[in-house]
Amino acid sequence: MKNNLSNIKKAIKYLDKNQCIAIPTETVYGLAANAYSSVATEKIYKLKKRPKKNPLIVHYFDLELLKKDCEINDLFLKLYKKYSPGPISYILKLKKNSLISKNVTNKKNTLAVRFPKHRLTRNLLKRLNYPLAAPSANISTKISPVSKKDVKEEFGKKIRLILDGGQSRIGVESTIINLINKPQVLRLGGIPKEKIKKYLNSHLAYKKKSVVKSPGQEKTHYSPYIKLRLNIKNPNIHEAYVLIRKRKKISSNYFYLSKNNNLKEAAKNLYKTLRLIKKKKYKSIAVEKIPNVGFGEVINDRLKRASNFK
Ligand code: TXA
Ligand code: MG
Repeated sequence: MKNNLSNIKKAIKYLDKNQCIAIPTETVYGLAANAYSSVATEKIYKLKKRPKKNPLIVHYFDLELLKKDCEINDLFLKLYKKYSPGPISYILKLKKNSLISKNVTNKKNTLAVRFPKHRLTRNLLKRLNYPLAAPSANISTKISPVSKKDVKEEFGKKIRLILDGGQSRIGVESTIINLINKPQVLRLGGIPKEKIKKYLNSHLAYKKKSVVKSPGQEKTHYSPYIKLRLNIKNPNIHEAYVLIRKRKKISSNYFYLSKNNNLKEAAKNLYKTLRLIKKKKYKSIAVEKIPNVGFGEVINDRLKRASNFK
C-alpha cells in the first residue's frame, strides 16, 4: 500500500505536468492524461498513432466532477447506480461550459465517460481535480494491453510511468452505451448487453455499424496482424489453435482461453493469448467455435475485427 501511495504521488506529478502515464483498469490498461488539457491529450493521439477524428473516453471518480461536464438524466443514474464503478461507458451530452478539451471530443457535443473500478486507479482519480482521458494503452488497431508488461511492449520507453495493477480482471473493454436518445449499445464489452437489457426491462438496440465513427467500431481492431480463422474444427498442424474446451490430446500449438467452456474466463485470457501466439511467431491462428452468447459474443466480436486486416 505504501508503495502504491508513492506511485500514485509520482503519477500525479506527471499528470499535473501534462504528461501521459498508463493506468490499470479492470477492463484493459489505459493511456491517461488530463482531460481538461489540450497539451496533455494531444500526446495521447501521438503516442497511440490514433486518428484525431476518434474521440477519447474520460474517466471520473464519481458524479461530482462529471456533473460540471455533462448533462445527466434518469436513465444514466439508473445504470450508474447498478453498474458503476465498473466495465461500462456512457455517451452523454457535453455541457456548453464544460472544461473538457476539444481534443477529447473531436468537437462533438457528446462525451464518453467511465468510472473504472480498479482500486489503484480509483485512488488516483480521487486525488485529482480533473478527470482522465484514457483510451486503451495500445497502438491504434493493435491488441489492447491487460498488464504492465503489455503496455511496455506497446510503447517501450515512450511513456515514463506505468502504474502496475496486475492483470486486468475482465480483460476486454467496457460496454459502451449511448444515452443521448434511446439507449443503444455501441460496443459490446465487460457487461453483456443481455444483462443490461434485462435490468432496464426494455428494448436495447445494438448497432454493429454505429453511426458514430469510432475505432472500436472499425472493421480492423484488436489485431495481432496474423491470419485468423474462426469456427475451426480441424486446425493445421503449424497453426496456433485457440480453445475453450479441454481436449484429450496434448499439443504444443493448443492455446486454452478456458478449459471448461467458461466464457468469462475466456474473455479475460483473450488478449493475453493473442499476444503470446504472436510472440511465438505463428503465421496463422485457428479458433474453435465459441458460442455467441454473453462474453462469447464479446469474444467473437473482437476476433472478427482482429481477423479483418490487409
Ligand atoms: O474499457 C475501456 O473502455 C478502456 C479503459 C481504458 O477504460 N478504454 C477504451 O478506450 O477502450 P478506447 O479509446 O480504446 O475505446 C473507446 C471507444 C472508441 O471506440 C471511441 O471512438 C469511442 O469509445 N468514443 C469515444 N467518445 C465517443 C463519443 N462521444 N461517442 C461515441 N463513441 C465514442
Ligand atoms: Mg482501444
